[in-house]
Amino acid sequence: MRVLLTGGTGYIGSNTAVALLEAGHQVLIVDNLANSNERTVQDIREITNKDVDFVLGDITQPAVIDRILETENAEAVVHFAALKAVGESVEKPLAYYRNNLDGLLTMLESMERHGIHNFIFSSSATVYGGENPVPLTEDMPAGTCANPYGWTKLMAEQILRDAAAANPKMSVVLLRYFNPVGGHRSGKLGERPNGVPNNLMPYIVQTAAGIRERLSVFGGDYPTPDGTGVRDYVHVSDLAEGHVAALEYCVAHHGVETVNLGTGCGNSVLELIHTFETVNGVSVPYQITDRRKGDVAVCWADVEKAGRLLGWQAKRSLKDMCRDSWRCRG
Ligand code: NAD
Ligand code: UD1
Repeated sequence: MRVLLTGGTGYIGSNTAVALLEAGHQVLIVDNLANSNERTVQDIREITNKDVDFVLGDITQPAVIDRILETENAEAVVHFAALKAVGESVEKPLAYYRNNLDGLLTMLESMERHGIHNFIFSSSATVYGGENPVPLTEDMPAGTCANPYGWTKLMAEQILRDAAAANPKMSVVLLRYFNPVGGHRSGKLGERPNGVPNNLMPYIVQTAAGIRERLSVFGGDYPTPDGTGVRDYVHVSDLAEGHVAALEYCVAHHGVETVNLGTGCGNSVLELIHTFETVNGVSVPYQITDRRKGDVAVCWADVEKAGRLLGWQAKRSLKDMCRDSWRCRG
C-alpha cells in the first residue's frame, strides 16, 4: 500500500517509515523540516535499502497537500506532523493551535476532496489528564490538559470523531502514545531535541554524555515504590510496528477507534536512571528536586485493546530502550 506520512522525517515518523517499508509498503513523506533534517530521508533509505519519496512542504498549505494527493495515489495517511514542545506551547499557544489544528483540518479537507478515507493520528496519553486511575483504558473520560499542546491533541481527537461521524466511508485510528524512547538499533533515527531537553530520556542521555552536569529528578515524595514518578516507556521501534498494525486495521474497517500504545508497565525515574547506567556502563549524576508543575505521580497504559484489535504488543525491554537511546545519541 502507498502511505503518506506527514511529519515523516521526525522522530516517530522516521522510525515508522522504516517499519512500513520493511513490511512491504511504499512510503511518501511530507515535512517542512521545522523540527527535523532532510538527512533523515537518506538514513531511512540506508537502513531499509528501499526508496522513500520526500516532499518538502507545509501541511497547513492546501495547495501542497492537494498536489500530493492528486498525483501520488496514497491510500492512507499517517499524520505525525505537529509541534510538540510542551513548554513552548505555553509560551506560544496560538502557534501551536494554528499549526496542529490547521494542519489537521487542511489534511482532512484535502483527503475528502480526493476520496481518501484512511487516517491514523498521533495522539498522546496526555489527554487522560491526572484524574483517572491506572492502568488507563481508552474508554476513560479524557481529562483536563495541563498545556496548549495537550489541548491540541484532545481537540484533534474530537475533530476526527466528528468528521468520521459525518462520513461513513472514513476510517480513523487514534493512537495514544505513552512515553516513546529509544531509537533505531542502527544508531540512527533517535530523538534529537533542540536546546535543553524537557523529557527524561533525552536529558539522561545528555547528562551521561557530559553535555548537562546533573539531572534533576522532579519529586522524590510521590506515592510510588521509590518516591519518583512512574511512566510507561515504550521503545520507538515497537511504536513504529504498532503503526503498521494500525494501518492494516484502518484500511479493513470504518469508523473511529482509539488505541493505547504502551507496554502496560510502569517504571520510575530512578529505575530508568539505574538501568541506563548499568546497560551502557556510564554514570548519570542526579539530584532530587521539587516536583514539576503539571506532573502526575503515575501513568501507564492498559494495552489489552491494542492486542485484541491490532494484534500488537510491545516486545522490547527497558534495557533495549536504554541501550538504543544511548546508541542514537548522535
Ligand atoms: P517530531 O517533532 O520529531 O516530528 C514531527 C515532524 O512534523 C517534524 O519533522 C516537523 O518538522 C514536522 N512538522 C511540524 N509541523 C509541520 C507542518 N506544518 N508541515 C509539515 N511538517 C510539519 O515529533 P515526534 O516525537 O516524532 O512526534 C510525532 C507525533 O507524535 C506528533 O504529533 C507528536 O505530538 C506526537 N506525540 C509524540 C510523543 C513523543 O514523546 N515524542 C508523545 C505523544 C505524541
Ligand atoms: C511529557 C509531557 C506530555 C507529553 C510527553 C511526551 C509534561 C508535563 N508532559 O510527559 O504532555 O505527551 O512528555 O513524551 O511535560 N523527569 C525528571 N527530570 C527531568 C525530566 C523528567 O525527573 O529532567 C520525570 C518527570 O517528572 C516524569 C518522568 O520523568 O515523572 C517522565 O517525564 P517526561 O519525559 O517529561 O514525560 P511526561 O511527563 O510523562
